[in-house]
Amino acid sequence: MKEIQRMKVKDLLKMQAGQEVRAKGWVRTKRGNKEIAFIALNDGSTINNMQIVVDKNAETEPILAKINTGACIRVDGQLVESIGSGQAVEIHASEIEVYGTCDPMRYPLQKKDTSFEYLRTVAHMRPRTNTFGAVLRLRSQMAYAIHDYFHSKGFVYLNTPLITASDCEGAGQMFQVTTLDLNNVPRNKKGQPDFSKDFFGKQTSLTVSGQLEGELGATALGEIYTFGPTFRAENSNTPRHLAEFWMIEPEMAFYDIKDNMDLAEDFIKHLVKYALDNCYEDIKFLGDRYDNGSDSEDGGLIERLKGVIGTEFVRLEYTEGIRILEEAIKNGVQFEYPVYWGVDLQSEHERYLVEKHFKRPVILTGYPKDIKAFYMKQNEDGKTVRAMDVLFPKIGEIIGGSEREADLGKLEARIDELGMSRTNLEWYIDTRRFGSCPHSGFGLGFERLLLFITGMSNIRDVIPFPRTPKNCEF
Ligand code: 4AD
Ligand code: MG
Repeated sequence: MKEIQRMKVKDLLKMQAGQEVRAKGWVRTKRGNKEIAFIALNDGSTINNMQIVVDKNAETEPILAKINTGACIRVDGQLVESIGSGQAVEIHASEIEVYGTCDPMRYPLQKKDTSFEYLRTVAHMRPRTNTFGAVLRLRSQMAYAIHDYFHSKGFVYLNTPLITASDCEGAGQMFQVTTLDLNNVPRNKKGQPDFSKDFFGKQTSLTVSGQLEGELGATALGEIYTFGPTFRAENSNTPRHLAEFWMIEPEMAFYDIKDNMDLAEDFIKHLVKYALDNCYEDIKFLGDRYDNGSDSEDGGLIERLKGVIGTEFVRLEYTEGIRILEEAIKNGVQFEYPVYWGVDLQSEHERYLVEKHFKRPVILTGYPKDIKAFYMKQNEDGKTVRAMDVLFPKIGEIIGGSEREADLGKLEARIDELGMSRTNLEWYIDTRRFGSCPHSGFGLGFERLLLFITGMSNIRDVIPFPRTPKNCEF
């Protein structure tokens, strides 16, 4: 007899009834009556389950007894039209093989507690839940959409190093990389750690951004993008911060700040549209489950996503943003953190501008230079830089970027003014020494994007294995 080919549930659900089929997957539920058992089988290919119908008899009873929620099985049988609601077809089983049983008393997902907090403690198992299956499929689809977007525009995918000796953002939030024996650190004459004895012969860290190397690429290849892990040792225990996250950083020669904003807006709209066009079932599941449209102000997840595609982002000067926030305070709006010109905006301020004042995404530009990184192009006023942050509903800052300072003298002056060490930056400054060009770029936080697209409320729930302060499990 010819072996039946295993097919994915996603494809089986679209097939015509009347064929012999084979499915493999994990049991979500088993229920039934004296005569028949119903098994809901999921193989991760879709949010939907395949219903398996098993006749109970002397032959099947011992097998059914071994099948509980979480067990892994193979099913051969006839694809038949389903009488029950919910699915067009189901499999009438003729043969079942149990690959792996699952003890209901010990299975971590059997518990009544399905809170996100609990599921984070069993993050090694949570991909088997409907919610995390949907989130992880969306994550994968969005990664594909990002590569597709840039490739279609002729950008070169550049791999920038994860281990680095320079602090791109200058915020000192780096994880040190060392092979020195911490119990016996070699010291120089001043008594400081002697990093010349370390693996790389100098002090090194995990990167906070691939931008500086990205600029090397852009000033040779024209338009590049990076897409990789990024590390920040900031002690922020918020629903929007991870110690290890993924960032997409396009960098473009001959783009000014306006071109940069146009690209950021087009990029993000393209990604949201891609999600709605290609991942609708997963988004609908998440929206229905956690973001009930009818009683939320903005109509819920799908409406929020459609809203972003269909609207022009506001472009606003920082100074004007501060004025709006000060006006709001005068009218009785309360913020936890103070508002004045020069302050680094908190997400409560960003969200006020986006959700309450403009009711659409905002690109804020012209920030005070003192709250932004050294590489940003300085404006004529001597006070502000051509930075741009894209602010989103529910999230706050989703993108940070700028036009870069292309003038050698101004860049060097700023580096000195900030008291930065030039030792590990000379290679970067070379881009301005040799054929300097106007250029711009930005960084999109991949998990922040996923927060928006999935409607999840905690960033720990849109990455398979979150790393946050005091937490590095799995
Ligand atoms: O605004 P940031 O710090 O900008 C940069 O790193 C620039 N070098 C980017 C560039 O111009 N090429 O970070 C960019 C984005 C933020 O807007 C946010 O979405 C995300 O990265 N991000 C984080 N996401 C999760 N956890 C954290 N701790 C994050 N820090 C930044
Ligand atoms: Mg930023």
